[in-house]
Amino acid sequence: MASILALLPLFFSAFSQGNALSLNYYTKTCPDVEYVVAQVVREATMKDKTVPAALLRMHFHDCFIRGCDGSVLLYSKGGNKAEKDGPPNVSLHAFYVIESAKKAVEAKCPGIVSCADILALAARDAVVQTGGPTWDVPKGRKDGRTSKASETRQLPAPTFNISQLQQSFSQRGLSMEDLVALSGGHTLGFSHCSSFQNRIHNFNSTHDIDPTLHPSLAASLKSICPIKNMAKNAGTNMDPSSTTFDNTYYKLILQKKSLFSSDQALLTIPKTKDLVLKYASSKEAFNTAFVNSMIKMSSITGGQEGRKVCKVVN
Ligand code: HEM
Ligand SMILES: *[C@@H]1O[C@H](CO)[C@@H](O)[C@H](O)[C@H]1NC(C)=O
Ligand SMILES: *[C@@H]1O[C@H](CO)[C@@H](O)[C@H](O)[C@H]1NC(C)=O
Ligand SMILES: *[C@@H]1O[C@H](CO)[C@@H](O)[C@H](O)[C@H]1NC(C)=O
Repeated sequence: MASILALLPLFFSAFSQGNALSLNYYTKTCPDVEYVVAQVVREATMKDKTVPAALLRMHFHDCFIRGCDGSVLLYSKGGNKAEKDGPPNVSLHAFYVIESAKKAVEAKCPGIVSCADILALAARDAVVQTGGPTWDVPKGRKDGRTSKASETRQLPAPTFNISQLQQSFSQRGLSMEDLVALSGGHTLGFSHCSSFQNRIHNFNSTHDIDPTLHPSLAASLKSICPIKNMAKNAGTNMDPSSTTFDNTYYKLILQKKSLFSSDQALLTIPKTKDLVLKYASSKEAFNTAFVNSMIKMSSITGGQEGRKVCKVVN
């Protein structure tokens, strides 16, 4: 932990744009914020085991578009179609958890805590609730005023190869180490057929099925998704322990049993392959790297205001 904290000033100078984050940002103005958010996430998880995965992915999407500014939380309004209604939105859900955490925080300290900070805290709590590592979340993000469905095109796609992934991450100041560690978020949650159908139907002109996909997994995915463009809710868990935060994801990649081309792509160059091997063999090494990279990703800032409710701008 000490080594992570020592690195913080470096991340901030490199990645925050304008608003500096700090660990004690709300110590005087809203000392209970972390406890209140954790409580809401814990209760929501008890009722619905899919909540942690949703919160972790929501934070990732937020940070990759306009920085971690709560833009993913905004509703479409009037003529504007918001991020949450953009194409790769199939599994974005559990927005109500952030809204109820915000309500609970507002009751304690009105007008102090941004929605972007609440989402960053909730993503950390989601990892903790599923048995993953904990860490201190830097705070002080501001909420943005813009959310556009068209900008979700900037998110990395599950069909990306390693150079496309590298480009997507480096544009946001994130390294190949961050790419491999953060992809470990795929230890949690669910995927719809649309996200991996490229690998099991007309993969390319010579192979119907991606030869880097294990035949037994390919067969089972084909039975779940027998045709292209299946009904919206068909799909499968990301890994067999999809409600537990662990390093199974990396073991699956080595067995050719990960779901997305973008997961399997991590084996295609030595640098990322070595990290996959390392995290597959050491849960501790994965946890340490994940925490470092989450702090880095969640420190990409961008907003201007503190929203009163998370789904609409002030
Ligand atoms: C490296 C680039 C990434 C790509 C291409 C990618 C792509 C995807 C796709 C296609 C899905 C399934 C959506 C669906 O079919 O419902 C998904 C789910 C998910 N992703 Fe990623 N992702 C990436 C990085 C990340 C990162 C950095 C995190 C968090 C640290 C993350 C966390 C998750 C989680 C938790 C789910 C499951 C969501 C749920 O069950 O509600 N992903 N991702
Ligand atoms: C996802 O996006 C599609 C197409 O833009 C939209 O019709 C749909 O309502 C969105 N789904 C959710 C859950 O927001
Ligand atoms: C990745 O895909 C892009 C776009 O299709 C292509 O230009 C590039 O050559 C590919 N890179 C690798 C390493 O396959
Ligand atoms: C199809 O994909 C396989 C595996 O990546 C590759 O070996 C083969 O050359 C590809 N075929 C074409 C026509 O691109």
